[in-house]
Amino acid sequence: MSYYDLKKAANGDDKTTLEDKHVPVIDAPDKVKKGEYFEVKIKMGEGIDHPMEEKHFIQYVELYADYYQLARVNFTPEMKAEVALTIKLEESCTLRAYEFCNIHGQWEAAKEITVD
Ligand SMILES: [Fe+2]
Repeated sequence: MSYYDLKKAANGDDKTTLEDKHVPVIDAPDKVKKGEYFEVKIKMGEGIDHPMEEKHFIQYVELYADYYQLARVNFTPEMKAEVALTIKLEESCTLRAYEFCNIHGQWEAAKEITVD
């Protein structure tokens, strides 16, 4: 499901903590109406904030509807690594969020969404 740097684990980082800090969390309705705007919030990490420092930060997050890229948001260390996007869909799909940490690489999350 997600890229994971084994070398980092050998150096003492706990895999679970790394996942908690990196796997994006997609907050969106399970069901929406065709063609109607709704909000998708993405935050990086569950219950723990990822560092946003010059040497270690989330560089970007991308949102896909199946294989179609809906958005890409670039972050700087001055920002909080979360975003709210307003989108509309024409058919049911899997929303996927890919976030990229400059040290720990790419992490993915997915959420099924039904369009009526
Ligand atoms: Fe990281």
